[in-house]
Amino acid sequence: MGKIKKIGVLTSGGDSPGMNAAIRAVTRTAIYSGLEVVGIRHGYKGLIDGNFKTLKVFSVSDILQRGGTILKTARCEEFRTAEGRKKAYENLKKNQIDGVVVIGGDGTFTGGRVFNEEYETPFIGVPGTIDNDIYGTDYTIGYDTALNTIIEAVDKIRDTASAHNRLFFIEVMGAKAGFIALRTGVACGAEAILLPEVKNQVSNLKSLLEDGFRRKKSSNIIIVAEGDEEGGAFQIAEKVKEDFKDYSVRVTVLGHIQRGGSPTAFDRVTASRLGYAAVEALLDDQKSAMVGLQNGEVVLVPFRKAVKLNKAISQEMLELSKVLSI
Ligand code: F6P
Repeated sequence: MGKIKKIGVLTSGGDSPGMNAAIRAVTRTAIYSGLEVVGIRHGYKGLIDGNFKTLKVFSVSDILQRGGTILKTARCEEFRTAEGRKKAYENLKKNQIDGVVVIGGDGTFTGGRVFNEEYETPFIGVPGTIDNDIYGTDYTIGYDTALNTIIEAVDKIRDTASAHNRLFFIEVMGAKAGFIALRTGVACGAEAILLPEVKNQVSNLKSLLEDGFRRKKSSNIIIVAEGDEEGGAFQIAEKVKEDFKDYSVRVTVLGHIQRGGSPTAFDRVTASRLGYAAVEALLDDQKSAMVGLQNGEVVLVPFRKAVKLNKAISQEMLELSKVLSI
């Protein structure tokens, strides 16, 4: 038997559909490999408070298809402090936990990285966020489900937009990254997509709308990422309204509906593969790294890279969205 005998698993940051599938994969892979498993509730907060519960094979039955996370999640300020991390380490020691799988996004991996610079207990990350903004993985768990939720909503809005010849601004999530906006924009045939990564878009948008107006487009759908520097959907709609008095403008903010729901097949399978790979990585004595997907293959990426490097928006997708929206 190797030195890993008992592992912990937690979910942290914004929840995403497929986190439960990842918890299930971690738990069952660990038990299959002869390890004990402890679920840590409420993310890093639970690590600091010692909020643990033993997970058995049946503790993770019937959760694969559910959104949210059975372990609950939180964003924990205390884990950013040396004192908080010390308490977390003491709880791990007291409970003889030899390694932890952390499921979350950028903030989660930053916490894991800092912890692993101070303490020996290995942390392995599984990327779970609807934002898909983690360097080193082509997909994060929950992204595909969120895209499908959004396109269903936008298709419905398109029906009413066409019926009234209206201009709709639809705000989607992605506080610092436009991956959700760009992909849903292409999938829904949006007339324009506003991303935080692209500057001065409102003036471009105005000329684009003028063209569409001249060509008598029956509806216009503009997807706005919530993090756009020129404002959210409401602010941008206000700026445009002044110049296009003939347009009837409406705004929809999709909000947290994007974070819920049953995960798609793609997210369930990705979560299962990555959960399995995270336990394998712990058994292989890996530490301070994330498991991710690159070109369909599972890879290991150091936290150092995953949190420091920025994932770039695809220029090909940007061009595609421009060409197809004429
Ligand atoms: O990181 C996931 C995410 O859903 C972002 O897209 C969004 O900006 C943020 O979380 C919202 O956070 P909260 O649920 O705390 O409002």
